[in-house]
Amino acid sequence: MRLSRFYLPLLKETPSDAEIVSHRLMLRAGLIRQMSAGIYSWLPLGHKVLRKIEQIVREEQNRAGAIELLMPTLQSAELWRESGRYDAYGKEMLRITDRHEREMLYGPTNEEMITDIFRKSVKSYRQLPLNLYHIQWKFRDEVRPRFGVMRGREFLMKDAYSFDLDPVAARRAYFRMFVAYLRTFARMGLKSIPMRAETGPIGGELSHEFIVLAETGESQVFCHRDLVELPAPGEDVDNDSDLETQMAHRLSLYAATEDKHDEAAFNALPEGKRMSARGIEVGHIFNFGQKYSKPMNAKVTGPDGTDVYVEMGSYGIGVSRLLGAIIEASHDDAGIIWPEPVAPFDLAILNLKHDDAKTQGACETLYAGLTKSGIDVLYDDTAERPGTKFAAADLIGLPWQLIIGPRGLEKNEIEVKNRRTGAREMMSPEAALNRFAHKV
Ligand SMILES: Nc1ncnc2c1ncn2[C@@H]1O[C@H](COP(=O)(O)OP(=O)(O)O)[C@@H](O)[C@H]1O
Ligand SMILES: [Mg+2]
Repeated sequence: MRLSRFYLPLLKETPSDAEIVSHRLMLRAGLIRQMSAGIYSWLPLGHKVLRKIEQIVREEQNRAGAIELLMPTLQSAELWRESGRYDAYGKEMLRITDRHEREMLYGPTNEEMITDIFRKSVKSYRQLPLNLYHIQWKFRDEVRPRFGVMRGREFLMKDAYSFDLDPVAARRAYFRMFVAYLRTFARMGLKSIPMRAETGPIGGELSHEFIVLAETGESQVFCHRDLVELPAPGEDVDNDSDLETQMAHRLSLYAATEDKHDEAAFNALPEGKRMSARGIEVGHIFNFGQKYSKPMNAKVTGPDGTDVYVEMGSYGIGVSRLLGAIIEASHDDAGIIWPEPVAPFDLAILNLKHDDAKTQGACETLYAGLTKSGIDVLYDDTAERPGTKFAAADLIGLPWQLIIGPRGLEKNEIEVKNRRTGAREMMSPEAALNRFAHKV
């Protein structure tokens, strides 16, 4: 993509109403624009990142055996009356009346709808286990939308729903998602720590929030320090007994959000292992048994011929919130530093003298060569001064910058800068092409 033909409206001024760094950087780097309180447009650069995050989430859900579908954003109030949540949900739910005076709502979550889909066609235990998910916009009329996409009113969520015959199978489904979440966030360059959590309006017994540590996080969390370094289980951990072993170890280490915090248990940890910090909730999983299947009559026939209400769980990831969380975890004074798997482009080419034929020729050759080999390049071919180009490239935070100017080209050299480390290396354009053309 040539920057001269792209739409990248950068802001020179730091927006004064943005309180946290990720919100400021998302506005300045032209990722989002606010349309009304807590409602954003995703500009091209932000949209690319959103889709990359979504795709990682999708791949890990699919790997864990969940199946994608797509439910609508608008739901009928009738379904929510069946579970009793239409009245219970309160003002966070945006209620809408259509032209026929039918009561509708903009879905804040989908337990009722998925249970309805399930009960209409699943009748036998042989069709279980089943885990269905979608990635869809939600609306919650938050009292105080803030921190940009971190706490919006309209936001993109991945929500999965598991159906099992009995509590043992449901627990297994829960652990599968648990591990899938660790892998998902690790792929985005994030360290997430699962914490015991309150079940809130979703209800149920077992629940974990996945927290990314950040000073600006809204949640206060307490945990055993070892959890921070514990890697996500590898793909070899695939059968149920391995899963149980890994989970047993993790669950034995103290980790709780403020609501579930047990001061005595925490204080019993060795001094050096006690960690208390702020964090951002990027995912939340629940096992709630028959809370919805019972009132909504979602039953299957078991192996012995009797009907049982299915055991359910739900599993959310804040896809749009993740952009904010990643930036909170990965930035410096100059701007965003995207982890490679979620970067909007793989690298930038900076043409330092756009009206110089030789420089232009070298840039065009590299641009064509890299693009041909599948690298997604943002080529700054504009007439801006070098200083402006450097600042813009650092602000938008692509992992690599190939800096090309007449002085270097006299020695057949260009500069390759790593955005994260700041390390710079001189090499020939051919060497740069070779180096990056083999990266994907
Ligand atoms: N207002 C919001 N803005 C952005 N993301 C949100 C918002 N509310 C929830 N999320 C994301 O969706 C995930 C699932 O939501 P859930 O746990 O059901 O909501 P809550 O944490 O409000 O109880 C959360 O872990 C979070 O990452
Ligand atoms: Mg939550």
